[in-house]
Amino acid sequence: MSEGKGIQGGLTNYGDKDFASYLRRSFARSMGLSREMLDKPIVGIAMTPSGFNNCHRAMPELVEAVSRGVLAAGALPRPFPTVSLGEVFLNPTSMVYRNLMSMDTEEMVRAQPMDAVVLIGGCDKTVPAQLMGAASADIPTVQLVTGPMMTGRHKGERLGACTDCRRFWGKFRAGEVEGEEIAEIEGRLATTAGTCAVMGTASTMACIAETLGMSLPGTAAIPSVHADRLVAAEECGKLAVNLIQNPRKPSEVITEKSVENAFRVLMAVSGSTNAIVHLTAVAGRLGIRISPERLNEISDETPVLVDLKPVGEGYMEDFYAAGGVGAVLREIRHLLHLDTVDVTGQTLAERLDDEPEWVDRRVIRSFDDPVSNEGGLISLYGNIAPQGAIFKRAAATPELFEVEGRAIVFESLEDLAKRVDDPDLDIEANDIMVLKNAGPVAAGMPEAGYLPIPKKLARKGIKDIVRISDARMSGTAFGTIVLHMSPESAVGGPLAAVENGDRVRLSVADKRIDLLVDDAEIARRLEQHKRPELQNRGYRGLYSRTVLQADEGCDFDFLTQEGWSKENAE
Ligand code: FES
Repeated sequence: MSEGKGIQGGLTNYGDKDFASYLRRSFARSMGLSREMLDKPIVGIAMTPSGFNNCHRAMPELVEAVSRGVLAAGALPRPFPTVSLGEVFLNPTSMVYRNLMSMDTEEMVRAQPMDAVVLIGGCDKTVPAQLMGAASADIPTVQLVTGPMMTGRHKGERLGACTDCRRFWGKFRAGEVEGEEIAEIEGRLATTAGTCAVMGTASTMACIAETLGMSLPGTAAIPSVHADRLVAAEECGKLAVNLIQNPRKPSEVITEKSVENAFRVLMAVSGSTNAIVHLTAVAGRLGIRISPERLNEISDETPVLVDLKPVGEGYMEDFYAAGGVGAVLREIRHLLHLDTVDVTGQTLAERLDDEPEWVDRRVIRSFDDPVSNEGGLISLYGNIAPQGAIFKRAAATPELFEVEGRAIVFESLEDLAKRVDDPDLDIEANDIMVLKNAGPVAAGMPEAGYLPIPKKLARKGIKDIVRISDARMSGTAFGTIVLHMSPESAVGGPLAAVENGDRVRLSVADKRIDLLVDDAEIARRLEQHKRPELQNRGYRGLYSRTVLQADEGCDFDFLTQEGWSKENAE
């Protein structure tokens, strides 16, 4: 049985260990810690409060509850800050900083004296960043999420960030909602602490963390302001102490089988497209890779069971009340690897042996009566996406699944912003909008793949149009949208060869996206392609030089297990 090294762990290098220990204890004393406390094992608590992160507003009470659990179980809690990423407060996009937060988490967990750690995150990029850091630092870890927001109300209707944000903004652009009302709605979309209220990226990642086995079972969907979340936080503190005595590292919990289970749950909850990139990055830290073909198999075999926005009706508060992740896992039990082990030490089979007392079938459907027979997300291939693209069929318009149309090309995000609402833009409802230079290297892969419907079409009542790009889209968005096209156009991916007026074909049945131009012409155009000028300085320079493409999780090449092993061998 291990008791941890406590305050003696990873001493500062002065060339004299005894001096380092004496100095550390003396400085720890200045924080008011008694000798008795300093002799206990230590649980670090990675906290991420920020005046720029509304989703983490409840962080102080979560830290207090985790600390209470740690103390009750006989260890010393030590909260410490890391980078915090508030989705809507970061320019150009939070995605650029996910890897920075993962490095911060990994390095601070490794460098400071802690025997186990509780990581508290919530907003979109924070949980993947923490899981990536945890996988690399590989000390006993419990992931705690901040939990989703409760819904607000507007004229008797429930509102939840951020599917309803987009829905009302679409109405405003179409002239169906006036300026005064949109201002009123602005104050009613996000009314409590917590992450977006729908099955967006944050909620999807919370479900994935629980399925991987990195979070306490049953905790992904507890609303941020619910007392159960504080109870869960206290339990996480106790569990972390237990992990010191019975060590279990992230590398033992995140395995090929648990990653496959997580992809299944992603399909069953009809989760966010972003989660594919994040889960790929987390798995890549441990050398695990699920091929796009396998992803499609999982998607074709796994029905959508959860009826939540952005593709269905309910909100995360309904999902929690309906039974949460456990109820979903039970429905797809026969498709899961049941011998995976979670942070508590139990196998998935043991976890699922307890039947829930009640499941709300309006929110979590049975396997035999699904919301749809197939998973929400698929990989597409084609001559403009040789390394793949992602399509959220559950959030798309089925009438647009098999189409061929004229490409209306926007060369960059700036070009899009400048021309999309130009009354002279030559565009029809059956055209295909193409956005280039919005991939990881060019632009940090912002959530710009949800191209706005040009005002001239929106005002004619057009609600959807096929859109393709190397960007991402928000997990709360919807539409017939092909994303993450790899390799991106900026590095000479064939998306760069698409010209205005070319014909493009989308076939969801064949899982293909193709440019209907002959290969020789595509090659000729790509020969003339010039890489755009990229930022070269500091972190942004490091990012554009080392970020991998979307199909590899957009991690830095030197942080994946494969990249790191390659560097070591050279
Ligand atoms: Fe933080 Fe949506 S803005 S989860």
